[in-house]
Amino acid sequence: MPILVTGGAGFIGSNLVRFLLERGHAVVNLDKLTYAGNLASLESVRAHPRYRFIRGDIRDAALLRSVFAEHAPRAVLNLAAESHVDRSIDAPGDFIQTNIVGTFCLLDAALAYYEGLAGEAKRAFRLLHVSTDEVYGSLGPGGFFSETTPYAPNSPYSASKAGADHLARAWHRTYGLPVLTTNCSNNYGPCQFPEKLIPHMILSALQNRPLPVYGDGGNTRDWIYVEDHCRALSVVLERGAPGEVYAVGGACEKTNLEIVRFICDALDGLSPREDGRSYRERIAFVRDRPGHDRRYAIDASKIKNELGWEPAWNFEEGMKKTIAWYRENERWAEDILNGSYRLERRGTGRETP
Ligand code: NAD
Ligand code: DAU
Repeated sequence: MPILVTGGAGFIGSNLVRFLLERGHAVVNLDKLTYAGNLASLESVRAHPRYRFIRGDIRDAALLRSVFAEHAPRAVLNLAAESHVDRSIDAPGDFIQTNIVGTFCLLDAALAYYEGLAGEAKRAFRLLHVSTDEVYGSLGPGGFFSETTPYAPNSPYSASKAGADHLARAWHRTYGLPVLTTNCSNNYGPCQFPEKLIPHMILSALQNRPLPVYGDGGNTRDWIYVEDHCRALSVVLERGAPGEVYAVGGACEKTNLEIVRFICDALDGLSPREDGRSYRERIAFVRDRPGHDRRYAIDASKIKNELGWEPAWNFEEGMKKTIAWYRENERWAEDILNGSYRLERRGTGRETP
């Protein structure tokens, strides 16, 4: 029985699909292919005998019914989402539709399917809802988010993810659907859409463009290499307890300025500028993101103590691999940057509703 992955053509989803196939699972990938979905990220597994791709929207109840009926998945991993905070500031509508309404449709379709199962298939079925640490809001200089931190989302993106998390919880408590939820910190790695900080800076530097740092550059994120997140999802799916929530983080806090300087210094060595100057000269402090959360940091002791997971990648190695991937996959980036997104600034204000 396959695992149904929604949003499998996105950044984390495509890494996860490859991760699961490499470990012997069968995967059905249901993805709408929004601007962020990219089948080029899955080219290496396109014809894999244990892989199926279905283009579709998680809000499409009839499609979901037929996918469950035809493929009889043993589990669902829900990664389909609108994921970019800046876009949610300009145009929140799609975030409400996919992240809240879409999660509702998926939970309901999974529940109908689950209720029709019997025996071992019913006992083993799980739905893992993949969420974010941003639902907890913003930390001051000290402390960590954990599974018991009260929700306090600040952006339309994080508010929509918080709504989805509450629905996932309710479908477990009220209807008995075996739902698990993970709340993870900032991922980085291959195949991330270049609107996000790390690929944005790598590709902008390589194009000799300015490197726009929001505000004073002191905002802090807890970075995790995407493969560590995929392993955490697999561990939670196989060993987590239904109804439980697991916070996942990289134990790797960096300010945005530290990240951008790290990329500049790495590229100074790997791809020196023609004028011999450092990429650091391209750093430009720009107007801050509205509602910009200051600091995220995760206490991941629950998943470590209960399920034996901890991050394996250190930041230097993960970044080396990520920078190398973007340099070696120019075509992947070019195809995106020739489309509707060309590294321009997003998230400065609301489009007319
Ligand atoms: P992404 O934007 O790269 O990919 C999202 C994918 O979902 C795309 O392939 C898109 O086509 C698909 N999608 C969007 N709307 C859909 C719909 N209505 N129906 C079906 N498919 C749809 O996102 P990502 O960074 O890979 O994040 C994946 C999940 O992980 C999201 O739920 C996000 O909230 C969560 N998350 C991300 C991070 C991170 O750092 N990127 C951290 C923690 C949690
Ligand atoms: O914490 C998990 C979240 O991490 C996920 O839920 C989101 O899906 C994911 O997009 C990410 O959200 P962030 O807002 O933290 O990521 P982003 O890459 O957009 O920005 C990271 C930090 O860098 C943030 O403080 C804003 C800043 N930034 C970002 C860009 C794109 C800049 O300073 N300049 C930029 O050009």
